[in-house]
Amino acid sequence: MARPFYVTTPIYYVNDRPHIGHAYSTVAADVVSRYQRLRGKPTYFLTGLDEHGLKIERRAKEEGLAPQDFVDRMAAPFRLAWEELGCAHDGFIRTTSTQHRENVQALWKLMQANGDIYLDDYEDWYCVGCESFKTEKELLEGNRCPIHQKPVERIKERSYFFRLSRYTQPLLDHFEAHPQFVQPESRFNEVKSFVKEGLRDLSISRTSFRWGVPVPNDPEHVVYVWLDALMNYASALGGPAEEGEAPLYDEFWNSSEAIIHIVGKDILRFHAIYWPAFLMSAGIRLPTQIWAHGWLTVNGEKMSKSLGNFLPPGPLVEAFGADVLRYYFMREVGFGQDGDFSHRNLINRYNGELANGLGNLMNRIVASIVKKSFGGRVPKTKLRSLEEIDRQLVEKARSTSLEVARQFDALAFHRALDAIWELVSAANKYVDSTEPWRLAKQDDQTRLEQVCYTVLETLRWLSIMLFPVMPEKCNELRAQLGMSPLLPTEQVDLWPSAWGGLRPGTQTQTATPLFPRFDESQEQSILERLGVEAPRAEKKKRASAMKENEPEKKPFLEFDDFMKVDLRIALIKEAEKVEKSKKLVKLIVDAGDPEPRQILAGIAEHYAPQDLVGRRVVIVANLRPRKLMGLESQGMVLAASDADGLSILGVDRDVAPGSSAK
Ligand code: MSP
Repeated sequence: MARPFYVTTPIYYVNDRPHIGHAYSTVAADVVSRYQRLRGKPTYFLTGLDEHGLKIERRAKEEGLAPQDFVDRMAAPFRLAWEELGCAHDGFIRTTSTQHRENVQALWKLMQANGDIYLDDYEDWYCVGCESFKTEKELLEGNRCPIHQKPVERIKERSYFFRLSRYTQPLLDHFEAHPQFVQPESRFNEVKSFVKEGLRDLSISRTSFRWGVPVPNDPEHVVYVWLDALMNYASALGGPAEEGEAPLYDEFWNSSEAIIHIVGKDILRFHAIYWPAFLMSAGIRLPTQIWAHGWLTVNGEKMSKSLGNFLPPGPLVEAFGADVLRYYFMREVGFGQDGDFSHRNLINRYNGELANGLGNLMNRIVASIVKKSFGGRVPKTKLRSLEEIDRQLVEKARSTSLEVARQFDALAFHRALDAIWELVSAANKYVDSTEPWRLAKQDDQTRLEQVCYTVLETLRWLSIMLFPVMPEKCNELRAQLGMSPLLPTEQVDLWPSAWGGLRPGTQTQTATPLFPRFDESQEQSILERLGVEAPRAEKKKRASAMKENEPEKKPFLEFDDFMKVDLRIALIKEAEKVEKSKKLVKLIVDAGDPEPRQILAGIAEHYAPQDLVGRRVVIVANLRPRKLMGLESQGMVLAASDADGLSILGVDRDVAPGSSAK
């Protein structure tokens, strides 16, 4: 019997509108919940809004609104954003709801009854941006917050304290006993080191402003906004509550297999230290895992208010569709790592992986051969007469399904997608090798049936494995295969495991292509619409301005000197982006030497690594090797650039690698 599964996002401050950083967390949690639901687990996915605190109170004042009116107004854009992105949350908590306020007070009373709350005077530095106290050690020059860069405020007031210091050892014991409690591991180590230094008691109430939950029996104080906010995860389910009082709390908090909080790396300390300590004090079960993801930059720049580059998800959904954006989020950055959101990379991945990879596989078989040769019906198959090459693809689908499940279980979305794309490539290669169009011409009906069925069934498997990331597209894919949409059902595991689920005779549909390729002019107009690229007319102007500055004239070179340059044709075997570099791609090329050579090329902003593999390029092979970003480059790839971008030099037929160019 599959046990319940609970996954949450942070609750977002409503002082600003949603941006892609928020969207990234919410999509990740939605992918987890869709995956777990497919596996037949009763699943609850919670998101919501953090509506109290000084920051919100001040913002409301700036807007000339009462705090409640302000937060009511700000809730709508978040709800809309998640709907547009296909994030199907089960709960949406707002911390200003009556139920939540009561639950925060109930938690307070439990902690108090345990002797963990006392009143004292307090004086310390406070960052309103973080809604958090800061030690002198943490501050930058000029008493500025290291995250918000703004000066912190000196706070001196009477405050209730939580005996956090008491929980230093219990927390360390818990960490020891639950080695997966925080992910990724490197962040867990940071948390452990912090706790090992010893924890200070924590101020958990304020008297200098009103916008919060009143402290029970002392309404002069409002509860510290982080205690209020963290409680949302239990409160949304109706907790704290005795057994039988709150069914959701019983099911998803107390009896679930997993309680996973997805958070950004900046708020890990609150989740991995304060939250479990509060729960221990109140005698409530702890979450099973806190997963801290990295931060996204936008086209290489940090998002910040001062740069005015907070990227809202809405226009991206409009330009690319929700599923493509979801795919890009999950594919581009290793979950847990920092990464960059680049519009160009998104388009490159779309064209390279979705249009040329999966879309092409679909078109080649469903829209073309199956339609022409079988009137669009799924042909017969005989498992017994599978040839070796068919068997290999079936085996690949099986091993992929196991691997993808393993990676989704570990929230390694990018690895799950890597594995899925290996299967897409294997299926495309299978089509190349079996040449169904030739079989059709030769009237080899039996073999053609087998080949088409093998690809169609692989597509059915893909429609399930990709569903958590691209639910709409997968249902479209299924409609084209003549199948009904996926409808996850509790206690029924829909993950693909048995070959042959697609029934022969099913009528396939050839609707519009799933992922039509963007040509250059579409790409340009999308980038212009999103304000990433200057309009074409302006670019032309810049180009002609460049022409006026003629290319720099270089002195004559003797023929013999030129002949010293070893120009060769090289075949790119592997390509990957160099971590932490905006421009560099690491290439492994065959340049006719006994061993492959490594070249670093500054072309990452213009080419997606996967589009480079298989290309023949011209290199300078005898340039003295040098190190870039700690990696050795053994040569240089030639490329030309103008106002429209950069283009690598190549050859117009498959010249053998290592051939010299003169
Ligand atoms: N309200 C608190 C969370 C309380 S949870 C009990 C909060 N809100 S927030 O709106 O400031 O941030 C919410 C989440 O957005 C955090 O997990 C944060 O890491 C994430 N992000 C904000 N900017 C981000 C990026 N640029 N990239 C990825 N995520 C980022 O903190």
